[in-house]
Amino acid sequence: MITSERQAAAPAAEQGASYSGYLLRDQQIAAPTSHEIMRTGPRTPMGEYMRRYWQPVCLSQELTDVPKAIRIMHEDLVAFRDREGNVGVLHRKCAHRGASLEFGIVQQRGIRCCYHGWQFDVDGKVLETPAEPADSRLKDTVCQGAYPAFERDGLVFAYMGPLDQKPAFPVFDGYVMPKGTRLVPFSNVFDCNWLQVFENLIDHYHTALLHNNMTVAGVDAKLAKGASLMGGFGEMPVVDWHQTHGNNGMIFTAGRRLSDESVWIRISEMAFPNWCQNAAIVAAAPQRHSGPAMSRWQVPVDDEHSIAFGWRHFNDEVDPEHNGREQDCGVDKIDFLIGQTRHRSYDEKQRVPGDYEAITSQGAQALHSLEHPGRSDVGVYMCRALLRDAVAGKTPPDPARVKAAASRGETLPRYCSDTRLNIRRHADHEKDREIIRKAAHQVFAAMRECDELPLAQRKPHIMRRLDEIEANV
Ligand code: FES
Ligand SMILES: [Fe+2]
Repeated sequence: MITSERQAAAPAAEQGASYSGYLLRDQQIAAPTSHEIMRTGPRTPMGEYMRRYWQPVCLSQELTDVPKAIRIMHEDLVAFRDREGNVGVLHRKCAHRGASLEFGIVQQRGIRCCYHGWQFDVDGKVLETPAEPADSRLKDTVCQGAYPAFERDGLVFAYMGPLDQKPAFPVFDGYVMPKGTRLVPFSNVFDCNWLQVFENLIDHYHTALLHNNMTVAGVDAKLAKGASLMGGFGEMPVVDWHQTHGNNGMIFTAGRRLSDESVWIRISEMAFPNWCQNAAIVAAAPQRHSGPAMSRWQVPVDDEHSIAFGWRHFNDEVDPEHNGREQDCGVDKIDFLIGQTRHRSYDEKQRVPGDYEAITSQGAQALHSLEHPGRSDVGVYMCRALLRDAVAGKTPPDPARVKAAASRGETLPRYCSDTRLNIRRHADHEKDREIIRKAAHQVFAAMRECDELPLAQRKPHIMRRLDEIEANV
């Protein structure tokens, strides 16, 4: 479908012809893209789907003595914490006559509009209308639009869907394990559609290229410092993608050789609509087995802007050498790998481009119809296809593993991980790659087995299975 659209737009030019600029130029104008999974305004299919899940909307530290104006999925809102400590996420325009509540005054209970003093509780109930007569019943007949909200580990979450479909907030193992894990909140503003940032996670080949080789030769050493991921990332991985979370998500398994004696298996995961987790992201050798270093949601602001909200995980397993910097995580800042945020000079961006430059330069809304996907893009296209099914209602929205964990009152198992296996290099390169692939699949299978196990048994099970995998590949 995508291919035929493209061929219709430029018949001869894509058969490998030279100097085809004139023939191809019209494609660049108004080429179709995947609106059904990119647009998130009210009443759009993706927008309604995304509104069935809790979404982070700002950081707790942004709720001060004045309200915080926010825009989420095309809706102008205001967030605040009243003096009793309750968090409110309300429509920004006052129900009385439309003054913005970003200029409101945070109250002991709720917020008061600056214009005529109407006071609203966090659930939108009108508490006072001071300019109205004492016997006025106006306040009992009007309400301010409000969304349920709560805070967790420095993030403010809101639910913007129908109340009767409000889900439980899914809590994954990595939020509480290993013991002593600290979750540090951050945000990261992107001037582009949410989807191209989200699918960057599953586009794992770019870590071997963008993050290791794509800098201007002879670049200032100071600039280049911090542009590369840890050593092994430079090797082209053996990658496969697998559907997970009852087809409401997916993972990749990426295998690389670290030495003649050892290989490294990395698994990153995403769950729809917009949540994902990465394993270690600071320079350090992979441990025997470690979990997530970052959990995040890519939240649409509108169709051409989005914000990553998430937690960096700090613990001795995922960062044994303590290379992460908690103090550098916060509002529109993140501590790892330069090129993550918009805050660099144009010259530096050109010389040492990072994720931010690659992703936002795809356009405010990436034009899928002009892409030329290859084998390395299978994951990205799988992600889009699964999302389309989920948005269209073809995938049941409440996967069994979420229900099972909730019924046990337990955290959800995670797949996101780094694992080091002692597997000797095979003399034949292709055979060696196949051995690494097989080992990666077995690590993932071992993690899937944990879906059926209580939390306390998961880690011991994995460690036992890793020994078996080494003995059997
Ligand atoms: S516009 Fe808000 S109280 Fe009048
Ligand atoms: Fe990246």
